[in-house]
Amino acid sequence: MRIPREVVEAIKDRCDIVDLIGSYVTLRRAGSNYTGPCPFHSERTPSFTVFPDSQSFFCFGCEAGGDAFTFIMRSENLDYPNAIEFLAKRTGVDIPRSAEEERKGLSRKRVYEMNLIAARFFRECLFDPVLGREGMAYLQEKRGLSVPVIRRFGLGFAPNDFTSLVTVLKKEGYTDQEMKEAFLCGISQKSGRAYDYFRNRIMFPVIDTTGNVVAFSGRDVGGDSKAKYLNSSDTPGFQKRKHLYALNFAKNHCAEELILCEGNMDVVALHAAGFENAVASLGTALTDDHARIMAKYTQRVILAYDSDEAGRRAAHRAMGIFAKVGLDVRILQMDGAKDPDEYIKKFGADKFRQLIKKSSTGFNFKLESVLARHDVTHPEEKIKAAAELCEIISRVYASAEREVYIHAASERLGISTDSLKGDVERLQRIHAKEGRQQQSRQAQLSAMNLGDKINREAAGNVQAAAAEDTVIGLLLLYAEHRTAIRKGVVTLSSEDFVTAFNRRAFEGIMALEESEGGFDFSLLGEFFNPDEMGRLAKLEQARRALSENGTAVLRGAIETLAAAKQKQAVKEASSMDGLQMLLAGKRKQAGKSTSEN
Ligand code: UTP
Ligand code: MN
Repeated sequence: MRIPREVVEAIKDRCDIVDLIGSYVTLRRAGSNYTGPCPFHSERTPSFTVFPDSQSFFCFGCEAGGDAFTFIMRSENLDYPNAIEFLAKRTGVDIPRSAEEERKGLSRKRVYEMNLIAARFFRECLFDPVLGREGMAYLQEKRGLSVPVIRRFGLGFAPNDFTSLVTVLKKEGYTDQEMKEAFLCGISQKSGRAYDYFRNRIMFPVIDTTGNVVAFSGRDVGGDSKAKYLNSSDTPGFQKRKHLYALNFAKNHCAEELILCEGNMDVVALHAAGFENAVASLGTALTDDHARIMAKYTQRVILAYDSDEAGRRAAHRAMGIFAKVGLDVRILQMDGAKDPDEYIKKFGADKFRQLIKKSSTGFNFKLESVLARHDVTHPEEKIKAAAELCEIISRVYASAEREVYIHAASERLGISTDSLKGDVERLQRIHAKEGRQQQSRQAQLSAMNLGDKINREAAGNVQAAAAEDTVIGLLLLYAEHRTAIRKGVVTLSSEDFVTAFNRRAFEGIMALEESEGGFDFSLLGEFFNPDEMGRLAKLEQARRALSENGTAVLRGAIETLAAAKQKQAVKEASSMDGLQMLLAGKRKQAGKSTSEN
């Protein structure tokens, strides 16, 4: 085990789960527990519960659950060791590091150091009257950036040469392998020599929120056919699906809103014009991770994507992603310019500020896009547009909001609010009915364990899986049952299990039970992902809610499991016979048909 259990225990001693989760969501007392809106799925009635007694949480809606470590794994998107590190920092617990960890940490640190040297080198080149002439002219004349802005963003220039940076870094003692790992150089297949990866490009250092230079983005200035932008690929210290360009600056100016645009150049131009809350994803479309990170910093996102068709599509997609994390989204519509950079250059910062004020909620955006697709001067098209809009409005939860939208649609379509309202209500009734049907289907499925993504075999083994669930719940909850099994007072081994997930759970629990220091729920985090931890928390929770949890229940469940397994074996054997007969028949037939030919 990489992280000593003492660390896990020290963290648990110092970290109260109610305080911890309370710093992410607003919790209300409900009896001896706490409830609140689930941070992991959107819901209207809180089904997320925190249990101070067991220092655990569980959402009855989405079945996320576990302990403080699982919570951090989910909400900070970390793996188990990093979640421990996160909580260790928060609680002031020291983690003694193994030699291997030291080495890994060192290599990341060296990548950052190397990046910093590279960033300084690129900057010197840009400000060099000879080397940087072309780059500087481009930035100042073509892009209209001032020297203070260039300095603030640490912009630089990579010379049109294969060995400039490599030479500098070698002199500083970095190996080819390290440079390659940091995506600063490639290794030539022919000569085996390292060569500069970024050439003849304006260099944007990518800086994380703690100030490390974690990557680079380089814009071509030669105007050749090669890629306009080149970005560092993922390294141990940089993941593009999580990084937002300029969040290091924006994080202090975005309590209210963040502006999200497509390109680094847009971000720089926006900051230069006084919009210090602008960020962009880097060489990748918006991800769930980006949205979750943004939700940590701000209440609202202004989408300032390019005004072309691709930008509009990306905005549509982004709205869905933001809706999942519950962020308020506004869409900014630019006319007469393709992106914020160009818009500000053409019309100025004040006009852009007005655009932000006028930016529309998701509904207006959808309204405009429906109207753009249908020429409502034609009756049929008008009917189609009305139907699409009523469908959209019927999905809106709040009735006041629906009314506002109905008015807006009525005005634009020239159809009375009454008739639109009637259509919306009819659609709502249909959706409600569909919802009920869906729910009862879901209930049927779950009664048969179909659609169980964590324990996939539960569907084919309903009885056995239920018995196993009882056993696992009891073992998680009570030391006496674990002891009984460890000592052989109650006989149960991993071969007795039918489903692979529960078998793994049993093995994990018993491995810890037999280890020095014994079982601890938190240590299971090493073997199970957060979804699986949620299942374990659920099984534990289910038992906790029952009054009968004694040895008789455990023995009963083990007997049921054995019987179910026996039955299953018989069934499988007979179906095997059937299958073999079928195959034999087929073979016979095949033989006949070949002999006939
Ligand atoms: P755009 O092509 O819209 O760039 O790509 P832009 O911001 O208008 O760039 P300028 O104004 O011409 O300099 C938007 C973003 O898509 C990624 C980059 O992150 C860029 O900022 N991109 C674009 C690439 O990763 N590679 C490319 O070749 C092009
Ligand atoms: Mn641009």
